[in-house]
Amino acid sequence: MATTPTSKRGTWNTKLGFILAAAGSAVGLGNIWGFPTQVADNGGAAFILIYLLCCLIVGFPVMVAELTIGRRTQKNPVGAFKALSNGNPFAALIGYWGVLCGVMILSFYVVISGWTLAYVFEEILFYFGQEGWAAYFGDLGNGPKNAIFTLFFMVLTVLIVTGGVSQGIERATKALMPILLAILVILIVYIFTLEGAMDGVAMYVMPDFSTVTGGLILSALGQAFFSLSLGMGALITYGSYLNKKQNIVESAAYVTIFDIGIAIIAGLLVIPAMFVAQAGGVQIFNPETGALFSSTTLVFDVLPEMFHNVGGLIGMLLGVTFFILLGLAALTSSISLLEVPVSYVIDEHNIRRKKAAWLIGGIVGAIGVLVSFELGLIDLFVYIFNEIGLPLGGLMICIFLGYFWKTENALLEMKDGYETVETSNFAPIWSIFIKYISPVLIALVLASVVWGLIAG
Ligand code: TRP
Repeated sequence: MATTPTSKRGTWNTKLGFILAAAGSAVGLGNIWGFPTQVADNGGAAFILIYLLCCLIVGFPVMVAELTIGRRTQKNPVGAFKALSNGNPFAALIGYWGVLCGVMILSFYVVISGWTLAYVFEEILFYFGQEGWAAYFGDLGNGPKNAIFTLFFMVLTVLIVTGGVSQGIERATKALMPILLAILVILIVYIFTLEGAMDGVAMYVMPDFSTVTGGLILSALGQAFFSLSLGMGALITYGSYLNKKQNIVESAAYVTIFDIGIAIIAGLLVIPAMFVAQAGGVQIFNPETGALFSSTTLVFDVLPEMFHNVGGLIGMLLGVTFFILLGLAALTSSISLLEVPVSYVIDEHNIRRKKAAWLIGGIVGAIGVLVSFELGLIDLFVYIFNEIGLPLGGLMICIFLGYFWKTENALLEMKDGYETVETSNFAPIWSIFIKYISPVLIALVLASVVWGLIAG
């Protein structure tokens, strides 16, 4: 390579630009759809407390690890592990696994994201009295309709990624994140004026520790992993565009706090909204078991119902803004999922960004069309690539960093932008987490998955 890595690779233009892009990657369907559903499913505030703990003791250390590996090597995940291990093929496998997880997670992520776009049409058509057409767009099981929205969303993602780092990704997220926050707050203020909302708030803030089980702790950990975009090298890739002046530890802290904050705020909308819907006659909890009626489809089944009950122009506007918001959040996440395989193809196979983005986008889109018709694949892919794949990747990253590359070398890289890191309290604490605490906790998650497989 004749040029220095930094002059060849794009970098983030501004400090805030990077933080917003990484936060945009983290904030997505996982926060606005996954987190509130899990809270409702797991009894409320107690789950939130355990989730927070998981983000702080596993998520944050692993995020620092990924960003440091990325900036040190200035490479995609495959290239990064090759570089740090002198070309050891086993280390590169961690990267290949990440690339595969990126492709497969994105292939169902775009289908769910497509649903959010379809519901924008559903809300508008419903308002104009076109109930037949509204039902068509709201039908989650309609394969051809799903496929069209999936491909549309995929094209949007590719177009942003072809723009490159600062032109495409940074600019898009810079504009989208503040809008997202504003819309959420507006919706919460509105929801709080409705009957039933305070029952939701009560569930949200009063912990009931009798619901805490081993299974709950494990799903909180899994949710933390997915929500922070960890385990498959998305943040290795984003870290590779970081300049040496930026404080990695501080940036990771901002992103973690931002992601947690958006999840908490989203829950503050969705949980009260569920109770508002319930007060309006929609069945949400099974009166006998107390369990949710529809957990995976909660947002798509219950919220449009609520927007319809609110009715009129306001109901429609609420619905439309909500689903646009969900779509935007999903878009800033899907670009980070696509960026992992795309940067791999650019770096390791010398293909231009534009061609690489359309190539990988085409493959993901094709699988996405398959998923659009066979929704059962979502559960399968979630199981293999989220529940097993991400923790497995995270575990390998911890082991690689802690025992092969060594935390001392990582801390040396962190010195750029955080001069005193080696003598700080952060250094020994982070090292202990990366070497012992985080991998052990992740291993417990994996063990529970394997246990679930065996016990059936
Ligand atoms: N964090 C995103 C969400 O909450 C999803 C996501 C984007 C992701 N990039 C990722 C998950 C990388 C794991 C790895 O919706």
